[in-house]
Amino acid sequence: MALRFITAEEAASYINHDDNVAFSGFTPAGAPKAVPTALAERAKKEHEAGRPFKIGMFTGASTGDSLDGELARANAVKFRTPYQSNKDMKNLINSGQTEYFDMHLSQVAQELRYRFMGDVDVAIIEAADVNDKGEVVLTSSVGISPTAARLAKKVIIELNANHPAAIKGIHDIYELQDPPIRRAVPVYTVKDLCGTPVLQIDPAKIIGVVETNRPDEVGGFSPVDEVTAKIGDNVAKFLASQIAKGIIPREFLPIQSGVGNIANAVLGSLGANPEIPPFMMYTEVIQDAVIELMKQGNLTFVSGCSLTVSPSVLNEIYADLAFFKPKMVLRPQEISNNPEVVRRLGLITINTALEADIYGNINSTHVLGTTMMNGIGGSGDFTRNSFLSIFTCPSVAKKGAISAIVPMVSHFDHSEHSVKVLITEQGIADLRGKSPSQRAQTIIENCVHPDYKQLLWDFVKLGNKRMHTNLMLSEAFKMHTEFIASGDMRNTKWA
Ligand code: COA
Repeated sequence: MALRFITAEEAASYINHDDNVAFSGFTPAGAPKAVPTALAERAKKEHEAGRPFKIGMFTGASTGDSLDGELARANAVKFRTPYQSNKDMKNLINSGQTEYFDMHLSQVAQELRYRFMGDVDVAIIEAADVNDKGEVVLTSSVGISPTAARLAKKVIIELNANHPAAIKGIHDIYELQDPPIRRAVPVYTVKDLCGTPVLQIDPAKIIGVVETNRPDEVGGFSPVDEVTAKIGDNVAKFLASQIAKGIIPREFLPIQSGVGNIANAVLGSLGANPEIPPFMMYTEVIQDAVIELMKQGNLTFVSGCSLTVSPSVLNEIYADLAFFKPKMVLRPQEISNNPEVVRRLGLITINTALEADIYGNINSTHVLGTTMMNGIGGSGDFTRNSFLSIFTCPSVAKKGAISAIVPMVSHFDHSEHSVKVLITEQGIADLRGKSPSQRAQTIIENCVHPDYKQLLWDFVKLGNKRMHTNLMLSEAFKMHTEFIASGDMRNTKWA
């Protein structure tokens, strides 16, 4: 069947109010750009004409401004899942104008298959190449595209000339079976491939191909500063100590590294530490620092879900595919983040906390327990199933007015049962095998900022010593309420 080339506006005209739309992309990498922008225009015109127009949105993770940003500014989103990070989308979510459902990224595709979240009416998939047999070469990410394209009633392809067709071979497309017939995921080493290089879509469902030439909208990273450098050095020092003790094998274990500026800095420190041998990564997002490690020879192979790199770094990869292609694979997020594979490969997972408590519980998502930051992303997929799970964060935020370490987290993403090590720029708290009171001692001693140490020592004295977890419930959120009242947690006074 011959492909039909259409404009972005025509593509948008096939999407109706109340439709559930699944988008390719994982972070801004590989997200469609032209059709969502045209869709936002369509929504605005419908609103001007007094008609409702809102869609439900399924994505791999966050996307770019011409998708999340445009649709949010057009107030065209009925619900959104999963991870997002665009400021206008966050405003929509945090002002209650759209319903946001935060979920573990490994589960998005299977929950679509299980029909937990309704039908997929339309899938919009960015491609580097497509033919009339429906064979699609994806671009800089895989995300939920295999499942989205298979379940969708209609598919629109956004053929983006900014990604070379020669990228073919970088993807490993594999979809899980559903219970009760699911088999083991056939990935036994970081490098194992188990699927196909192209995504097969039923050509009868492809209602049009929209041609574009637009770069991914990945922002740059903040330069490493004194605090992030110290956190990175502490992580590297800790991992080197575990090799020296024979706890981590001398040949090392695969690394998973989270998103954001701290994660980028931590990877730089791992590469700079001579006691860490060249290693492999089995991770979700491949950020700039990963490519730098690869060029330096410190990273021998990376398996991920997206090339979330700055535009200049992506161009560098595309200009030298002969070097990079044999050293990387992009997988669907249900495989890159698969709990079974994470546990089997024995990953060392390094993710970032917004807030931790003195018992080792982690909040990765909610500022002061109420405002959504980005979402849990893959941090739960990896943390719970790791060989060794590490959380990092600066000990304070907002120029010291917030302590990142509090008596009790204001929102729970990762519990004390899954978190093995907490690292700040102040030091390292090894929580393995420790009771709640021992964890409180080691976290306050090693990770808390000097401005808050006495305050937290005084907090642990408040409780009943004969309890297993010595937590004075009535005071547990007092540092948070003090910040809301006076703008500084340092003013907290215990009862
Ligand atoms: N209370 C209130 N605000 C806090 C805070 C706290 N305890 N700790 C940090 N903040 C603020 C910072 O001041 C900063 O605000 P600003 O942008 O106004 O300055 C913001 O939160 C975080 O800074 P950012 O530079 O975005 O940090 P980052 O790039 O290192 O990202 C996370 C950190 C936690 C937001 C990010 O890693 C994330 O979304 N994680 C969850 C998902 C995840 O782990 N995915 C990886 C799985 S593979």
